[in-house]
Amino acid sequence: MKATLVIKNIDNLITLRGENKARTLEDMKDVGSIKNGIIALKGEKIIYVGEGELPSSIRIDENTVILCGKGKTVTPGLIDSHTHLVHGGSRENELAMKLKGIPYLDILAAGGGIHSTVRATKEATFEELYYKAKKSLDIMLSYGVTTVEAKSGYGIDDFSTELKQLEVAKKLNEDHPVDIISTFMGAHAIPSKYKNNPDVFVDIIVEDMIPKVAERNLAKFCDVFCEEGVFSIDQSRRILQAAKEYGMGLKLHADEIKPLGGAELAAELNCTSADHLIAASDKGIKEMAKKGVIANLLPGTSFNLQIGKYARARKILEEGVPIALSTDYNPGSCPTENLQLIMSFASLIMKLTPEEVITAVTINGAASLGLEDKVGSLEMDKLGDIVIFDAPNLEYIIYHFGINHVETVIKEGKVVYEKKL
Ligand code: NIG
Ligand code: FE
Repeated sequence: MKATLVIKNIDNLITLRGENKARTLEDMKDVGSIKNGIIALKGEKIIYVGEGELPSSIRIDENTVILCGKGKTVTPGLIDSHTHLVHGGSRENELAMKLKGIPYLDILAAGGGIHSTVRATKEATFEELYYKAKKSLDIMLSYGVTTVEAKSGYGIDDFSTELKQLEVAKKLNEDHPVDIISTFMGAHAIPSKYKNNPDVFVDIIVEDMIPKVAERNLAKFCDVFCEEGVFSIDQSRRILQAAKEYGMGLKLHADEIKPLGGAELAAELNCTSADHLIAASDKGIKEMAKKGVIANLLPGTSFNLQIGKYARARKILEEGVPIALSTDYNPGSCPTENLQLIMSFASLIMKLTPEEVITAVTINGAASLGLEDKVGSLEMDKLGDIVIFDAPNLEYIIYHFGINHVETVIKEGKVVYEKKL
């Protein structure tokens, strides 16, 4: 067999080999490191991962791209499994309010926050949204991200804007090397029109929007902002049950700010992931463990909202819940595309080990998007989504924080990003 791309002499090859499923505490310890590793690809797929030299069954010729991993750390492409990628405008005007200590939910209740991004997204053309999101995707790719989840949710009751966001994500998925998995999140805020009768808006989401999104095949998942003053537990349940009937996978913004019982609901509904969990209860965490719901943690949001509280990552792991980590990239609660910074936060603030962190942004991120059979680890027959970090080891990437350690990104067997020297 002829290899089309080979990375050889890799000082620290982190394969994440093992079962194609979300990993829990014990299984997060061994990340399948190989010293003096070598990896060979044929087309978009991995054909060999090992130590030292290639076996004689794998040939190379003058067309084979050969990269050198001396002094480098090589990992699977990173997966950012929770973002609000496609949106109009920005919200730096909220900084002054934040510095005065005005809470996020108060800004939202006063018609700002998500509502101001809804206005900006409605006003933006398809092209404007496309190029703004593309710029963010380029940044994500440069930080080693090869798969991104992208939510709608800045149209809310204006369904054409919801569709516009999902169509932009679809087009970018076709045009851009980074893969995009779409989530329908019409239930992101209560539109002012339905302030006094939110159940009418829930009816519209359930009876009209979800069937139409499903019919157009525009979203793999459905998500709800289950929060005090936003969607209640009962409303969230109704929406997610409808989404399930239409074949969508389920996600939930659960217990982000107030302990509403989102973790319990995510377990009850067998959600693929429950995200945020800053205020999740002990009971909710235990129920998630029983059902195998992935905890998608977003420490950048705690940091940026300045709420002084982070999800209890160690407790969550010790209860047997698998953890994924994401940016939550959005213009309000977490305006950053930098997943490496989130990895440092997760370790330094939430006390996750480097092994737990890399598992959370690779195979566990893949599992939270239903992609664990395709990406998230470096093994035979998986896609050749690979990052070469200019770093001697994993600890270094996390320790030397706030900068970009990526040297090269390979997506489906092709070099798609190289750091300019
Ligand atoms: O995950 N909480 C709801 N959604 C986002 C924030 C969106 C926004 O503020 O625009 C989040 O925090
Ligand atoms: Fe979010």
